[in-house]
Amino acid sequence: MSRLRIFAENAPDTPEFDSSDGDAIARELQEIGVTFERWQAAQPIAPGASAEDVMAAYRADIDRLVAERGFKSVDVVSIAPDNPKREEMRAKFLDEHFHKEDEVRFFVAGSGLFTLHVGDRVYEIECVKDDLIAVPDGTTHWFDMGPEPSFVAIRFFTEPDGWVGHFTGTDIARRFPRYRE
Ligand SMILES: [Fe+2]
Repeated sequence: MSRLRIFAENAPDTPEFDSSDGDAIARELQEIGVTFERWQAAQPIAPGASAEDVMAAYRADIDRLVAERGFKSVDVVSIAPDNPKREEMRAKFLDEHFHKEDEVRFFVAGSGLFTLHVGDRVYEIECVKDDLIAVPDGTTHWFDMGPEPSFVAIRFFTEPDGWVGHFTGTDIARRFPRYRE
């Protein structure tokens, strides 16, 4: 289930907000400029479906988002728990960083934990199947796929270089909960 928890940055044990309601999550995130939507597949997606099948099931929403935001490329990333590079892939996103383009992800299957650091608050968002999240450029954040990662996600890019992270060097991510540990 999608879930948002909001903490003061110095109180990682006591969330001041906790909800699994999609509309409530979208409202809270809208306040900090983050888009959160729940999409519906036009047709069922079979296990092992190709990237083309995945994109076809969400074509209307993908086309709308690309038209609204001018994305230059869209791809599908898929990570299973038995991936031999899972530890190194997980580690890549675990510390606080930002990007010079929006980070936009749609979860087709599985789940992952995005955590945003905005002002003196921390927004922890568990994204699951059918969740779209768009984090504005410059927003400091980290992402945890967990020790047994399992997700399929559509990624939207405006820059030709793909994923480039700028790390802040802080330890804040280590003071907040990791995913499923
Ligand atoms: Fe990122």
